[in-house]
Amino acid sequence: MLKAEGLSKQFFRKGRESARYFDAVSSCDLEISSGEVVVLSGRSGSGKSTLLNMLAGLLMPTEGSVELDGRSLYELDDKALSSLRNASFGVIPQGQTAVHSLSVIENVKLPYELYRTDDAAEEKAMTLLEEMGIANLADSFSSELSGGELRRMAIARALMCDPAYVFADEPTADLDDENTAIVLDLLKHVAESGTSVFLVTHESGAARIADRILRMEAGNLTSA
Ligand SMILES: Nc1ncnc2c1ncn2[C@@H]1O[C@H](COP(=O)(O)OP(=O)(O)OP(=O)(O)O)[C@@H](O)[C@H]1O
Ligand SMILES: [Mg+2]
Repeated sequence: MLKAEGLSKQFFRKGRESARYFDAVSSCDLEISSGEVVVLSGRSGSGKSTLLNMLAGLLMPTEGSVELDGRSLYELDDKALSSLRNASFGVIPQGQTAVHSLSVIENVKLPYELYRTDDAAEEKAMTLLEEMGIANLADSFSSELSGGELRRMAIARALMCDPAYVFADEPTADLDDENTAIVLDLLKHVAESGTSVFLVTHESGAARIADRILRMEAGNLTSA
């Protein structure tokens, strides 16, 4: 179980006339259980990515805590947090994050090989690429892929270490309807195997895969 309590993030913004701190996320409480698909939507700038990054162990909150199975993420040292993230969390970040100098399969294997020395990576990555329908692109460079193919590669990479939680930040942005449906179906499939999915999206069609829909308004989390 992933549990966030009183989670807040303040950022500093320098304006033309003044500079001030503001709450990008204010006192959010949230629990996500196994296999649950939680969909978060809300206006641009409302704090969705900030919340996702704090839940995923990537951004230290100003206040509050995130606990994974009773372990408080931000009380761990960097090394312990990185290794917990690698073992338990898969992140599909907003925007493109492919390493262009690597092939598709090398991109997918990367998180696995950072922490493991066994030789299971190749076969595992290939299986995931098959599930994503892009096995034929395994040896292409990521710079040669379409937007939809890159998203599917990012999902495969996020699943490489069998995470208990997947955090997907607008994984269907810039995709056409067909690819949007493919990505949503894949995430649903991931959840059916017991992985929790936290999905930030503007896509109204995402409601069909959601167990719970939340909204973010100016840093405040509410049930939709
Ligand atoms: N590192 C930062 N420093 C200062 N302000 C930041 C920083 N990161 C985000 N912000 C601000 O915090 C607010 C929330 O940003 P966030 O990226 O969480 O929004 P979002 O809901 O994900 O938006 P979008 O739908 O456009 O992705 C925005 O006003 C943004 O400008
Ligand atoms: Mg965002």
